[in-house]
Amino acid sequence: MDLLRLRGALERAFLDRVRDGVAGGTDLDAELEALLVEPVDGSGLSHQLRREGTWEQVRELFAHRSIYQLKESDPQAWVIPRLTGRAKAALVTVEYNEFGAGRAERVHCRLFADLLAAAGLDARYGGYVETVPGSTLAVVNLMSYLGMHRTHRAALVGHFAAGEIASSPGARRMLQVLERLDAPQACRTFYSEHVEADAVHEQLMRHEVIGGLLDEEPELRGEVVFGIQAANSVDG
Ligand SMILES: [Fe+2]
Ligand SMILES: [Fe+2]
Repeated sequence: MDLLRLRGALERAFLDRVRDGVAGGTDLDAELEALLVEPVDGSGLSHQLRREGTWEQVRELFAHRSIYQLKESDPQAWVIPRLTGRAKAALVTVEYNEFGAGRAERVHCRLFADLLAAAGLDARYGGYVETVPGSTLAVVNLMSYLGMHRTHRAALVGHFAAGEIASSPGARRMLQVLERLDAPQACRTFYSEHVEADAVHEQLMRHEVIGGLLDEEPELRGEVVFGIQAANSVDG
């Protein structure tokens, strides 16, 4: 009981900080369009690495990413019982692919473990949890928090959609980085899988999951916007 109370207090403090960092509003189309625009001189990590990244920097990025990628799509699975109709059917389709579409060796977290091993890094779940800074943990805490509470289901959907929409072009850039650095094949497989899969997931998340949810509950639009903005803010 005390533990739950402590978690509740931490969650409220965390949510307040996240809300302080976003613009809010209900303009969902503008948020989705912004995600789809590819900046010519992008300043994100994959842009930076493509220009001048070293293998050591790429390995450091892998270690940070491992906190989430070794449980890729698990926090989002919490939202399944909280959806209905088209939103549920489409989100489960996306999750089915994330979980390997019936093939254990294709589960995305397994692909990332293979990537870590090929890069000579610790591939065990949570292997870097004591090493990474709070800003890296916050990325995962946000999705877990949104996933665990029914009241935040629309924000979770927005957060998930933001990741899926940005993933395909980001993965393409990472492939270019790994190509230039002549990285092991297992490191590239994780990203080539995401170039293809997330082009499809983007459409499903946008039209069926978000579209289906808001057809049923249009009053949740602002929460979907919040989820997208929170993802951008905390990831940034
Ligand atoms: Fe994935
Ligand atoms: Fe995906």
